[in-house]
Amino acid sequence: MTSSSSVILPLFCAVLLLSASWAASDSIEEEFYCRVCSNTDPSLPMSEAFIIQNNSAFTSILESTAQNLRCLEQSRHKSKLIFKPLDEFQVQVAVICARKLGIQVRVCTEGHDYEGLSYTTETKSPFQAGATIGEVYSWIAQKSRTHGFPAGLCTNVGIGGYIMGAYRTLIRKYGLGADNVVDARIVDSSSRILNRESMSSDLFWAIRGGGGGSFGTPLVWKLRLVPVPSIVTVFTVQRTLEQGATKFLYRWQQAADHLDEDLFIRVLLQLTNSTDDQKGRRTIETAYEALFLGRADGDRLLKVMKKDFEKGPIPEQAVEGIWKGLLKEDSPLMIRSPHGGMMSRISESETPYPHRNGTKFMIQWLTSWESGDDEESMKEHIGQVCLLQLYKFMTPYVRMSPRAAFVDYRDLDLGVNTIDGGTSFPEASSRGTKYFKNKWKRLVLVNTKVDPDNFLRHEQSIPIVDPLST
Ligand SMILES: *[C@@H]1O[C@H](CO)[C@@H](O)[C@H](O)[C@H]1NC(C)=O
Ligand SMILES: *[C@@H]1O[C@H](CO)[C@@H](O)[C@H](O)[C@H]1NC(C)=O
Ligand SMILES: *[C@@H]1O[C@H](CO)[C@@H](O)[C@H](O)[C@H]1NC(C)=O
Repeated sequence: MTSSSSVILPLFCAVLLLSASWAASDSIEEEFYCRVCSNTDPSLPMSEAFIIQNNSAFTSILESTAQNLRCLEQSRHKSKLIFKPLDEFQVQVAVICARKLGIQVRVCTEGHDYEGLSYTTETKSPFQAGATIGEVYSWIAQKSRTHGFPAGLCTNVGIGGYIMGAYRTLIRKYGLGADNVVDARIVDSSSRILNRESMSSDLFWAIRGGGGGSFGTPLVWKLRLVPVPSIVTVFTVQRTLEQGATKFLYRWQQAADHLDEDLFIRVLLQLTNSTDDQKGRRTIETAYEALFLGRADGDRLLKVMKKDFEKGPIPEQAVEGIWKGLLKEDSPLMIRSPHGGMMSRISESETPYPHRNGTKFMIQWLTSWESGDDEESMKEHIGQVCLLQLYKFMTPYVRMSPRAAFVDYRDLDLGVNTIDGGTSFPEASSRGTKYFKNKWKRLVLVNTKVDPDNFLRHEQSIPIVDPLST
């Protein structure tokens, strides 16, 4: 393969997850099953495509890609059926049948959705589609040792949803996955199959980062592979508070976004037990995880790492405040991933992803706990007490007006659509502009055109508006 080669990745381990709004009937699954069977190729092994709730595989399939088991638990009983289409035509038929039966469909192309929107059914609904990122990497590795694709670290994430959202380690050199899409094939809400040529340029723009669960169901992405050396270097450096974590972090944040583009260093902040005299005392550990596109021998890596630092955005005393916040939680995790490099050179208008030049790094906040799956524990861990406090504390140090958010790290606290999916444009705009800045309105107009009935929807899907009212 040449350095600009592209590949077509067929994505047929798609899972459609359905749930019905037919409270009165218990046979909606059967009806859906019959309709899909009678309209598709009879030689296909259909029994493998449908997984009903009482099948033991149902839960394991749901859980296999679920990131947030809390969401899953709450809505497991509402998901009626998982449908794994065996060919593209079945995706089209499923859309037609679901529409006829009034079933809401949720596409689960990603599975790493923090709010579980791609595999749960709070209102009624679900569709999944896609090879995982791990499968894509494995496929590339089998064909070439010198090509890669700038996708995510979490190999169980579906590539379909990933691209519709976007982000990771090669971003400083090559931008986002969405920046390296050559073509796509999707099934739209009227069950038509569209590719780049037959869809509008607006729609092709929107599906590359506008968030999963709107616009259509991705079937195939044609991706541009990027050149990588056959040998790369990865390393992790850890520092606890006692070992000077504060100074380290301060320096990292000054440098991370303008280091050489071949070097990506992200930092993970979490709790650990102190190893000094006071054994068992809780302390913070910062772990710098790095990928260098080159070999560790020779002096290039060292040169790349010795750079001057500019003034960073978060002063040292604020870093201390972050430690305090983290120490209040049981099991917090903060991940900061740098931008810069190619991310600054790609124009904001290229794709819906708006955090380009001027964005130093992205912060991801997580917390987890083992027991207490109730409202009180949730409030304690996420709500008033810890994560939210930390989120508020960071306000002076992060991008505001609006405060930025990343659609792949979905956050329902930013606002949700009303239960029927209809939500006023101004209401939804408060969260929409956080995710997409001034690209929000264009996304809404595109979705209104391609899915006028709002067939594909979830709690934070792109709403539709009456074009005359805007
Ligand atoms: C599961 O449900 C189907 C249809 O509702 C039923 O025919 C089947 O016997 C059930 N299987 C088990 C193992 O309970
Ligand atoms: C820290 O120590 C406590 C008590 O000894 C233990 O339960 C916990 O698992 C340890 N935590 C870590 C992160 O090692
Ligand atoms: C990014 O923004 C800075 C500050 O506004 C500007 O100086 C620089 O030229 C921009 N870089 C690119 C590649 O547009």
